[in-house]
Amino acid sequence: MPDPHPAPLAAPLQPVVEAEELRQRGLEPVLGAPCVVLEIGFGRGELLMDLAAARPQRRFLGAEVSRKRVARVARRVIRAGLPNCFLVHAPAEYLLERVLPPASVETCWICCPDPWPKKRHHKRRLIQPALVERLVTALGPGGELHIATDHPGYRDWIAEVMAGAAGLDNLNAPAPFGDKRPERRLTAYEQEWLAEGRSMAYFDYRRVS
Ligand SMILES: C[S@@+](CC[C@H](N)C(=O)[O-])C[C@H]1O[C@@H](n2cnc3c(N)ncnc32)[C@H](O)[C@@H]1O
Repeated sequence: MPDPHPAPLAAPLQPVVEAEELRQRGLEPVLGAPCVVLEIGFGRGELLMDLAAARPQRRFLGAEVSRKRVARVARRVIRAGLPNCFLVHAPAEYLLERVLPPASVETCWICCPDPWPKKRHHKRRLIQPALVERLVTALGPGGELHIATDHPGYRDWIAEVMAGAAGLDNLNAPAPFGDKRPERRLTAYEQEWLAEGRSMAYFDYRRVS
């Protein structure tokens, strides 16, 4: 027989947060902590959720421009019961420019960003000097940045952008990138590319103190 006086429920889980609310109120009042692990372009959300499940004491924030993906992953986060996993429907550029304060990101994951292979579309690529500069500011001292791509053209582009970035130690030095995945699960795209026999390039950095 069900308990007629169950303990009060915890606050309802709201994995989707508004960028504007985060900007106006700050991270701590909305997420419960001043720092987050950030994933940009979480796609199907498997990596973000896996990381959040493994470290319940940390806050995880996923940024995604696809509304459909945000809605889909929000349902998965609720089903999985991950109160430390938050999603925001916003471009990373906006979050880094207007929302995330300096030293508020512990680690940033960017896996398989869209390669935009045509030359006339290169300006749409996520990894650009201005974005990297903002990311470095958003990372706390000792914070990590991990970028993975399967696309040779984008790999060379990222290597060039990152060669000009200040404030980061390259963990694969003297090589610009490595072929070993940092300790984390595969993402959906990565799994697909590897199954097709493509190789991945992993760019890994630590913010200098
Ligand atoms: C190729 S998918 C990779 C998805 C996932 N990271 C993976 O590895 O399976 C790239 C994702 O980045 C998202 N995206 C593209 N530009 C973005 C931006 N400026 N800010 C946030 N997300 C972005 C896309 O909507 C898409 O879901």
